Amino acid sequence: MKLAVLLSVVAVCHTATVKHERRFPDDFIFGCATAAYQVEGAWNEDGKGENIWDYLTHTNPTVIRDQSNGDVAADSYHHVERDVEMMRELGLDAYRFSLSWSRILPTGFANEVNQAGINYYNNLINEMLKYNIQPIVTMYHWDLPQRLQELGGFINPLIADWYEDYAKVVFDNFGDRVKLWITFNEPREICYEGYGATGLAPILNATGVGTYICAKNLAIAHAKAYHLYNNEYKARQGGECGITISVNWFGPLTDSEEDEFAAELRRQATWGLYAEPIFSAEGGFPKELAARVAEKSAEQGFPWSRMPEFTDEEKKFVRGTSDFFGVNHYTAFLVSATKHIQQHAVPSLLDDIGVGSYVPPEWMKSASSWLTLAPNSIYNALTHLASKYNNPVFYITENGWSNDPTASLEDDDRVTYYRAALESVLNTLDAGVNLKGYMTWSLMDNFEWLKGYTERFGLYEVDFSSPERTRTPRKSAFVYKEILRTRTIDNSYEPSSLIMTIDEGH
Ligand code: NOJ
Repeated sequence: MKLAVLLSVVAVCHTATVKHERRFPDDFIFGCATAAYQVEGAWNEDGKGENIWDYLTHTNPTVIRDQSNGDVAADSYHHVERDVEMMRELGLDAYRFSLSWSRILPTGFANEVNQAGINYYNNLINEMLKYNIQPIVTMYHWDLPQRLQELGGFINPLIADWYEDYAKVVFDNFGDRVKLWITFNEPREICYEGYGATGLAPILNATGVGTYICAKNLAIAHAKAYHLYNNEYKARQGGECGITISVNWFGPLTDSEEDEFAAELRRQATWGLYAEPIFSAEGGFPKELAARVAEKSAEQGFPWSRMPEFTDEEKKFVRGTSDFFGVNHYTAFLVSATKHIQQHAVPSLLDDIGVGSYVPPEWMKSASSWLTLAPNSIYNALTHLASKYNNPVFYITENGWSNDPTASLEDDDRVTYYRAALESVLNTLDAGVNLKGYMTWSLMDNFEWLKGYTERFGLYEVDFSSPERTRTPRKSAFVYKEILRTRTIDNSYEPSSLIMTIDEGH
């Protein structure tokens, strides 16, 4: 036995010294991502209607760290050619962007379609396709038409019908050229941060109630759009339709059974709430979490569980409605049943689960309080999801690192982060996970929601004080480009200058 262990240690040491280059498969899709409200600007141009971020930033500017807004943002509405030029400079296979619902349907309802909005997205898609860059389109990235919010937004079950009407307009207009559809970006952030807390518009703060109602209505809205695509468009247009969920890794702080259960509860409350109804074989909300919320609700005197149930018919309608699992992944946390426990509002989702979370101080820190470089966290998250949900097709639809607006263009911390993340992607591929693509967040600096312009995520820096919103590549842009070109990670690569060009064939 001892000898066997020794031999395997020797074998590991030996392979570590042999230079063994791991490659990304040729058909692996590399891209970058953005979202409408964060880059477009032109908030009231050419017939666009008001959305919840226009409303929030204009009526309540002090909730934004630098009191800024997305009125102009990176002004992508007026810079289609430059944006596509950056994609060509990097050699991207794909670009993930989102459609602004209120630019297409100004009031949110499908009785009035804004042709200028359709034209803008047509130009963008056509310009990308000229250079063989595949559009990956998010149909909803947090910018609900304000009129629909006034009618309750995701708390009103009619959202599913309004969303289906919008989806029809979108598939009709762009489905001839768009082959990868993402219905919703990050349901947790929409439902928890928007309805259950104060992290995002509409900052409703209906703690312990809003999140769960929104989660169910959003799942039905997603499923309606999926069935619509599947039944009426797929045969003709031949694309795929899925959803993107934020999946950071939550591992146990120690290997005790209590900590493992605490981590599982935290995973269920953070992503299971949105993934389980769609990707599990049984459908419906995660069981342990549902039991916990029902128990807590009863203790608190509610005559019903604050977490609604899916009927059998609804479960059937929602499960299996995603051709792929889009994952936005950034970081990890260690979860404990007994340590680092904080007090939370009663009732609330965090009080319902009652677990603590911890980030080791040695993990490199970004400019965002929630974002550190956690070891091999893509591998941990994706191998877990793959074994839980029968290894569906995955895309990493976002992954990225923030720094300070004053940081130099030589963004070595971001380079370190991306190299580590992509090593973790290679580990994930080696483990047999069905991962087909990877997108950085973000192509360029943009409006980081309540943090305004104080946290920068771009491979390209955007000068928000220049009228042209000049874009300049950071060192990380050159490193990403080299990884795409060679399909390998060379940790010794240093760009010879920060002058960007377009390579032949792009
Ligand atoms: C995820 C969101 O989808 C995106 O909008 C946001 O800017 C990034 N995370 C960074 O926080």
